[in-house]
Amino acid sequence: MDKEVAELIRLEAERQRNTLNLIASENHTSRAVREANGSVFTEKYSEGYPGKRYYAGCEIVDQLENHAINLAKKLFDVDYVNLQPYSGSSANLATYAALAGVGGKIMGQALSDGGHLTHGSKASLVSSFFQFKQYGVDQQGWIDYDKLEKLAKKFQPKVIVAGTSAYPRLIDWDRLRQIADQINAYLMADIAHLSGLVAGKAIPSPVGIADVVTSTTQKSIRGPRGGMIMTNNQELAIKIDRAVFPGLQGGPHQHSIAAKAQAFYEALQPEFAAYANQVLSNANTLARSLQDHGVELWSDGTDTHLLVFNSYQAFGLNGLESKDLLAEQGIITSQSQVPNDPLPPMLSSGVRLGTSALSTRGMQEDQMQEIAEVIVRILRDKANLRSEILGMAKQFKLPE
Ligand SMILES: Cc1ncc(COP(=O)(O)O)c(C=O)c1O
Repeated sequence: MDKEVAELIRLEAERQRNTLNLIASENHTSRAVREANGSVFTEKYSEGYPGKRYYAGCEIVDQLENHAINLAKKLFDVDYVNLQPYSGSSANLATYAALAGVGGKIMGQALSDGGHLTHGSKASLVSSFFQFKQYGVDQQGWIDYDKLEKLAKKFQPKVIVAGTSAYPRLIDWDRLRQIADQINAYLMADIAHLSGLVAGKAIPSPVGIADVVTSTTQKSIRGPRGGMIMTNNQELAIKIDRAVFPGLQGGPHQHSIAAKAQAFYEALQPEFAAYANQVLSNANTLARSLQDHGVELWSDGTDTHLLVFNSYQAFGLNGLESKDLLAEQGIITSQSQVPNDPLPPMLSSGVRLGTSALSTRGMQEDQMQEIAEVIVRILRDKANLRSEILGMAKQFKLPE
C-alpha cells in the first residue's frame, strides 16, 4: 500500500479518536458500514435499475439494491426509494429537475437563515439551473411561515423545499403542506440532517406529508456518504428515477448502496431509537448549559441534534476564530452565521454544534455539561486575554 495513504488513514483515525466531534453534519459509522463501503461492490458497473441494467453480471447488485431499498422502505415507512444519488446535493438536484423541470420556480430557505447551499444559494449552480426565491427566519430565528406564505402566493413556485443545515427547530410540515396546496406546488422535505432522528422516531416524519423527501445518509442516520430520495407517489417516483439516471448521474455506487443497507439495518434495531432520543437529550443539555453561562442561542434553544451559539455576542470572537480556537483544544465544530448576522459568511458570528457523533460514542448529559463548560472556558479566556492586551495598548498611546 502507498505508505502515505496508509499513514494518512492512521492519522485520521487517531485524530477522530483524540478529539470531540461536534460537527452537526458528521457521525461515526460502525465497522460493518465501513466494510460494506470498502467492499468489492466498488468495482461493479450497474447503470440502470434492478432488472434493467446496461451491463451484464448485475445479478448480485440487483439483489443488493433491492434489499437496500426494502430496508429503507421499512425504516421510513415509504413506498418508493431511490438510493442511487451520490450525495445529498445530487439527490436535491435530481428532485428539482423531476418536480420543477429545468428553469422551473422553486422556493427554499436562505443559507444565512439555516437552509442549505442547494436550497437556492447564489453560490450554488442550482440557482442558475432553476429560478429560486429564498425565504428566511424572523428576528428570533424562527421560520416566518406567514411571510413564507405571502411570498409563495406571489412567486407561485412549482416546488417549496424545506430542510435544515443550521436551523435548530422542527419544521412545521403540516403548515408547509397547507401553503403548498394553496398554490398547487410540490412540497419537498430535505431531511439530510434529520433522517436519523426521523428513523429513530425521535421527531415527526415528513413522509406522507411532503410529496418527496430527500436525505443524505452520512449524518444522523450513521451511514456512508451518499443520498436518497423517497416518495409515496408512483408517478413522481418514475420521474425521479429518470432524473437520477440517466438524467444526472452515470453508474450507481453499489459499494455505497451496500453500506446504506447496513446503516438502515442498524437503524431498524431497537437500540437506534434509544440513540436518536439520546442525541436529542444531549443537544438539549448542551444548549441549556451554554445558556446557563450567558451564551445566546439561535432561537433560544433546539428541537433537534443541532444548535448555533452566538460567539460574537458572548465572547466578542467571530465564528471563524472561535471554531479555530476550539479546534486547537480538540473540540471540532463548524462556524455558522446567525439570523441577521452583521458579519459576512467567511467570518460569521456563530458556531454550530451537533450531538450525533458524540452520542454514538456513548456520551450523555453529564459530558454535555462538561463540554459546554470547556467551550465557555476556552473562548472566555481568549476574550479576557484580548481585552487585557487591548487595555494596555490603549493606556500607552502612540506618539502624535
Ligand atoms: C439540508 C442539507 N441538504 C443537502 C446536503 C448536501 O449533502 P452532501 O454534502 O452529501 O451533498 C446537506 C449537507 O450538509 C444538508 O445539510
